Amino acid sequence: MNDPDADSNVRGWVHCDEAAVQLDAIKEKAAEIREHADTFVLVGVGGSNQAARSVIEALRRPKGPKIVYAGNTLSAAYLSDVLAELHDKSVYINVIAKNFETLEPGSHYRILRSLMESIYGAPEMAKRVTLTGTRGSLLEKIAKDNGHLFLEFPVTVGGRYSAFTPVGLLPLAAAGLDIDSFISGGRDMERLLSACGAENPAVRYAALRNLLYKKGFLVEVLAGFEPRLAYFNKWWWQLFGESEGKNGTGIFPSFAVYSEDLHSIGQYMQSGQRILMETFLSVEKPGASLVVEGDRVEDRFDYLNGWDFTDINRAAETATLEAHSSGGVPCTKISVDRLDEYHFGQLFYFFMLSCAVSGKLLGVNPFDQDGVERYKKSMFKALGKNIAG
Ligand code: PA5
Repeated sequence: MNDPDADSNVRGWVHCDEAAVQLDAIKEKAAEIREHADTFVLVGVGGSNQAARSVIEALRRPKGPKIVYAGNTLSAAYLSDVLAELHDKSVYINVIAKNFETLEPGSHYRILRSLMESIYGAPEMAKRVTLTGTRGSLLEKIAKDNGHLFLEFPVTVGGRYSAFTPVGLLPLAAAGLDIDSFISGGRDMERLLSACGAENPAVRYAALRNLLYKKGFLVEVLAGFEPRLAYFNKWWWQLFGESEGKNGTGIFPSFAVYSEDLHSIGQYMQSGQRILMETFLSVEKPGASLVVEGDRVEDRFDYLNGWDFTDINRAAETATLEAHSSGGVPCTKISVDRLDEYHFGQLFYFFMLSCAVSGKLLGVNPFDQDGVERYKKSMFKALGKNIAG
């Protein structure tokens, strides 16, 4: 059973500076990775991978190691591709696992460490592996026994709330992203929201979506016009889905990447069952400019001559918002100035706080995931793992 008040031990994320531990060790290891690695493998699933992946995939840097994701699937084909990717490359890995029981990261770590040990030998491999887990865990023991750097996954922070902990920070730094700026975005949002009192926009967003839910709008679609936010959508999707979907209740989170998805799910948004609310995540300054020029081919697109794609995209966003609102979809717009480390920090903090408040308003514990634990148990049983209880 979920106890809505059983969360006093899971609020380690509320103050960004308290979550962001071991910064010097993280920066030092990231500098080493950037200097020596061709490929950096982030081994983790769910909350142990989504925050970092969403920023890395949105803000890709041209230089530095290629970032590869493992520990997030049980597909043999996917893992084989990952291993092929590592052939003849200088490889560093970061295994992130809060309870170090989850099948995907645990099994992939096993395969990767065998491969790396056969290539590098134990002493060289020691520095190429970083393990991120809770203090006192088996993962910490393995790190100690094998000379790996151990980073703390604070026990008071759940996976999907871990963006500002070493879980998010080492992969971001290894990808060449500015983690100080990322943390300061979170810290500034934390200060801003706590100074807002009753006008707190994170609380208002949480209240609004709950109000709409009570009126029968059961699904929330996070919609945006920047494909770079595709993995951020997945992070948001997990955050709200895993935090709220319990006890037979919860807004079902979904997402759409426009304008592409206007040509598929856009039809349903406009004219399907009126159970949808839509939250537009709008980027004020997308940071690129590309103007359409006329040419000699008569293609009837001349009305676009002189238009910048940024403005075309903006016009599509405004038009979509208008069309969906007038079609009976309650639409909310959340704007972010631009996509960089600082503003991602702001977004993560904003949505984590909203989600925690929203879960409380809904009457569930937004910090547990009993359903996930249940399927894990039946999977372990199916695979013959000896489990108690
Ligand atoms: O948010 C959560 O708590 C989950 O999504 C976990 O992060 C996910 O299940 C991975 O857990 P672990 O790091 O223990 O393998």
